[in-house]
Amino acid sequence: MSINRRNFVSKLGIGAITTLTVTKAVASEACNFLPTPEQPLGPFYPKTMPEDTNVDLTRVSGRSMSAKGEVIIVTGIVQDEDCRPVKGAIVEIWQACKSGKYNHPSDTSNNVLDPNFQYYAQVRTNRRGEYSFKTIFPGAYDATSTWTRPPHIHYKISLRGFEELVTQLYFKGEKLNKYDRILQKLNKDDRNEVVIDLEKDTRSGTRTGNFNIKLKRL
Ligand SMILES: [Fe+2]
Repeated sequence: MSINRRNFVSKLGIGAITTLTVTKAVASEACNFLPTPEQPLGPFYPKTMPEDTNVDLTRVSGRSMSAKGEVIIVTGIVQDEDCRPVKGAIVEIWQACKSGKYNHPSDTSNNVLDPNFQYYAQVRTNRRGEYSFKTIFPGAYDATSTWTRPPHIHYKISLRGFEELVTQLYFKGEKLNKYDRILQKLNKDDRNEVVIDLEKDTRSGTRTGNFNIKLKRL
């Protein structure tokens, strides 16, 4: 795990505090990646915003229990097409809980909701373009009787002066990825931009992944 990533982790209270100066080097390393491909919004973007939208989806304010499932951390940098960090971009995420259920009226599956999972979060990127979320590994769910969606996290990134980006994030090694009708619409290079590897942090034991995002200017 990079020192940079540990910084994000430390902000979430599960790692050691380390210097922030290394971030610059990581930002330039990330400069070679392609523009982030779009993916459909899907039917489960929140109709009404929940009260608790902070970066820790594993806890809901006012509740004492944590969400079910494996805790993971997703971090990243939002950049423009010239690889400069984009400050103040609003990064929104929403996802299914461990059972594969969304907290949305359009999700009519019999999967059970987790009252201790936050389902949606949003954060603004800092001056280095960084964002991070602590969440749980999303459950797979049936989109139709012949199609099960692999674990994924929905993203929407917006900021005045940039094209709004809607996409979905997937996890390397998931068998369902190969059969997903949405992910497989992308060409191989684009697919690689939205499939991340989760690595175990040696200190906390929490799997952590890096999803960098490139926005197009208007
Ligand atoms: Fe979904």
